[in-house]
Amino acid sequence: MTDIEQLEASILDDIHAAADEAALESVRVATLGKQGSVSALLKTLGAMSPDERRTRGAAINALKDRVGLAIADRKAVLKDAALDARLARETVDITLPVRPGPLAEGRIHPVSQVIDEITAIFTDMGFSVAEGPDIETDHYNFTALNFPPDHPAREMHDTFFLKPKQDGSRLLLRTHTSPVQVRTMEREKPPIRIIAPGRTYRCDSDATHTPMFHQVEGLVIDETTHFGHLKWVLEEFLKAFFEVDEVKTRFRPSFFPFTEPSMEVDVGCKRSGSEIRIGEGDDWLEILGCGMVHPNVIRSAGLDPDRYQGFAFGMGIDRIAMLKYGMPDLRAFFDADVRWLRHYGFRPLDLPSLYGGLTS
Ligand code: DAH
Repeated sequence: MTDIEQLEASILDDIHAAADEAALESVRVATLGKQGSVSALLKTLGAMSPDERRTRGAAINALKDRVGLAIADRKAVLKDAALDARLARETVDITLPVRPGPLAEGRIHPVSQVIDEITAIFTDMGFSVAEGPDIETDHYNFTALNFPPDHPAREMHDTFFLKPKQDGSRLLLRTHTSPVQVRTMEREKPPIRIIAPGRTYRCDSDATHTPMFHQVEGLVIDETTHFGHLKWVLEEFLKAFFEVDEVKTRFRPSFFPFTEPSMEVDVGCKRSGSEIRIGEGDDWLEILGCGMVHPNVIRSAGLDPDRYQGFAFGMGIDRIAMLKYGMPDLRAFFDADVRWLRHYGFRPLDLPSLYGGLTS
């Protein structure tokens, strides 16, 4: 064996013994590097005769090429092996059950659920969702809604007032969601179709009243909307919400300063004991207030009542939640009792939709 063959055999052994890319790099430096064994052989050429240099030179350069190739081959093998090892290490067993975490434990409050259900139904009919502040001015809560100064309807609202400001004016906690009607008409050009779910406040507390409660307001304003549209929208809503094929409704004359005519709507139901079933029976249950928007309200929001008209309605969310899900005491809604929430709450990923089912 020549010295070149011997060197080559030992280098190839080292290359194959290299277990990872770092070890292979050390072999490369020890052979082809500046101080490496193959480079050292090349340096001996300078002291040789021209003939010897030609044959030795060719042999050493061929060795250098073969070593380079062997290192490249080994490198490719090691790279593949490293990738395989990583893929094996990082596999995820997708057949394992999902670990129970916050999504399995937490529950959506029935009020949030019912707001999502109402939103799904009305957005399907082309409504969008509007908002207004909980802290309101007397103007938006009363005056712009056509409550005359000192009118008894103001008293009926049992308003929570904030401390008077220096000019004597007082902010208040909105007593209904109707101020959002005015704010929306000021902001948007008709046609307007909105619902406004949100918190409302009145100084009142018993099994069916809490100082903070929830309402949803509805408002449609354009040039031709009439009472027939209002009736259709409400009946479609009631059928979808209570998940029944038919509902009976009864419109009774009533009074609200911001609508003319004003009505209260009863829905047909059947009572047995404490249970109430919507869509059956010959009894009636009052469910919401509504009417055609008063021209004064349209005017105070900056629109022309000779051109624009429409309807509005307002409904208690907590009450229809109690009705639909059979919860007897409103106060429990706001006790933050986890046992109650576990019983009446909804799973976070079961979002209500008309195609997937409101309460699947
Ligand atoms: N704002 C009324 C209340 O809180 C409910 C209401 C009645 C709203 C009739 C309306 C409506 O938009 O047209 O008692």
